[in-house]
Amino acid sequence: MASQDIVSIFDFTVKDAKGNDVDLSTYKGKVLLIVNVASKCGLTNSNYTELNQLYEKYKDQGLEILAFPCNQFAQQEPGTNDQILDFVCTSFKSEFPIFDKVEVNGDNTSPLYKFLKSGNWGLYKDDIQWNFAKFLINKEGQVAGRYYPGTTPLSLEYDIKKLLGVS
Ligand SMILES: *[C@@H]1O[C@H](CO)[C@@H](O)[C@H](O)[C@H]1NC(C)=O
Repeated sequence: MASQDIVSIFDFTVKDAKGNDVDLSTYKGKVLLIVNVASKCGLTNSNYTELNQLYEKYKDQGLEILAFPCNQFAQQEPGTNDQILDFVCTSFKSEFPIFDKVEVNGDNTSPLYKFLKSGNWGLYKDDIQWNFAKFLINKEGQVAGRYYPGTTPLSLEYDIKKLLGVS
């Protein structure tokens, strides 16, 4: 799709960890939390634990978490998709979808991440800093917030509730 035709996140098709196409418009009307994940990061456990907590609490109210494995930060996601899935499912029992590995910086940045980063983010500059950078997408498919990797998943709760329209 030509980039000028892209108006929201729903215009993208990505691959899931099994290699199947997923049209992101299937998430229309949901609030999305998009995270680049890694299995071997020292901070992996706390992030997955809190992502699970958020998911448990808000999935019925319309939150979806989309996790994109990325091996660009200190090679902390070296495994195959199957190994990643196995790790995430057995260690964390995460129920949210894990997608195909992507690059988030550089020439081979995935089209989705190009879109995510295309906003005017000022201080954040262009590059994703590390594993577990977070983006919140509103129900219309627009980027509503970008957060540093160090922002804990649970500290996004207020913003998620606002986007979901729940109190
Ligand atoms: C999640 O990972 C990031 C860096 O990758 C880290 O700064 C943060 O402390 C980790 N833990 C939580 C709970 O967010």
